[in-house]
Amino acid sequence: MSAVANVLIHASQYPEKVRRDLLASLRLRRVNHKFHYDSVKQTQKWLALHQAYSPARNDADCAAIYDRAFAAAAARARSKAVHVIGLGCGGGQKDARLLKLLKASGREIFYTPCDVSTAMVLTARQTALASVPDKNCFPFVCDLATAKDLTTTFASRFTFHVSRLTTFFGMIPNFEPQLILPKLASLVRPKDLLLFSANLAPGADYTAGVKKILPQYDNALTRDWLMTFLLDLGVERNDGQLRFKIGDDRTNGLKRIVAGFHFTRSLRIEVDSETFDFRAGETIRLFFSYRYTPERVRKVLGQYGLEVCERWITKSEEEGVFLCRKR
Ligand SMILES: C[S@@+](CC[C@H](N)C(=O)[O-])C[C@H]1O[C@@H](n2cnc3c(N)ncnc32)[C@H](O)[C@@H]1O
Repeated sequence: MSAVANVLIHASQYPEKVRRDLLASLRLRRVNHKFHYDSVKQTQKWLALHQAYSPARNDADCAAIYDRAFAAAAARARSKAVHVIGLGCGGGQKDARLLKLLKASGREIFYTPCDVSTAMVLTARQTALASVPDKNCFPFVCDLATAKDLTTTFASRFTFHVSRLTTFFGMIPNFEPQLILPKLASLVRPKDLLLFSANLAPGADYTAGVKKILPQYDNALTRDWLMTFLLDLGVERNDGQLRFKIGDDRTNGLKRIVAGFHFTRSLRIEVDSETFDFRAGETIRLFFSYRYTPERVRKVLGQYGLEVCERWITKSEEEGVFLCRKR
């Protein structure tokens, strides 16, 4: 293993910007979910949670839909060299399976693991090195939600003239679609491919489907991971209660699971010499996760010029992978 790694860091994740985003989260009582992946400790907790609960790692049927999607994407990407861009790569386990397949097909591969967390891009890079030479690996730390110049940054930094295969796995649940999808669409060029996955609400009845999956979020590892953000700021567990509920987003007609911490006693915390007073009875939103249906995915991607060419849905109807391109 090389003792050093080159990591490109976008200004959207410079310390001053991260500090401003943190203060905004506390003022608005709505935590930007990037703060749940910020520290090495949170990254490790999330990776443990992912290992324990991710269907892609624990359900053979779910792993199989990813493998089928990877095979279809590899068959469609006809060029001899491919640049895989893992947006919100996490630990990069899914990207690694795609890279292995592309390598086995004899292609030259370039890989950009891209995430808000440096620990995640380094983990993904490490996993990818089994298939991608170090010289072709370009870890990139950035905040996809706030970076305004991603198209030009990608065009100027990654100048190799090969086709792009962008992955956006498990990301859409944690973003307002109207904010993130224009950015995603701008990164997919004509003839490029996009592999996109989403957690789904099973069954024909959307409301009943979302109710069915609600208990999946309320478990010890998820609670521990989400609470780390507050505990690190000086909140104590018995200052309130973490509750999960279903919320309706009227701006887009979607339902989402929302986790909020309800303060049962008043508390003052200080962050960077700014004071935050939380009163008993107040709530801070820690997390949300939208649930889609395959048709809702097709429709929302279509609004941003992305066409679903093929799709694979688990038998449980709780996860789907979508192969897309620009219309
Ligand atoms: C649910 S995980 C998905 C990880 C991986 N794609 C997978 O499917 O296993 C979400 C990932 O998005 C990253 N993330 C969160 N907010 C982000 C942002 N604003 N910009 C870039 N990455 C972000 C997190 O660090 C985390 O690795």
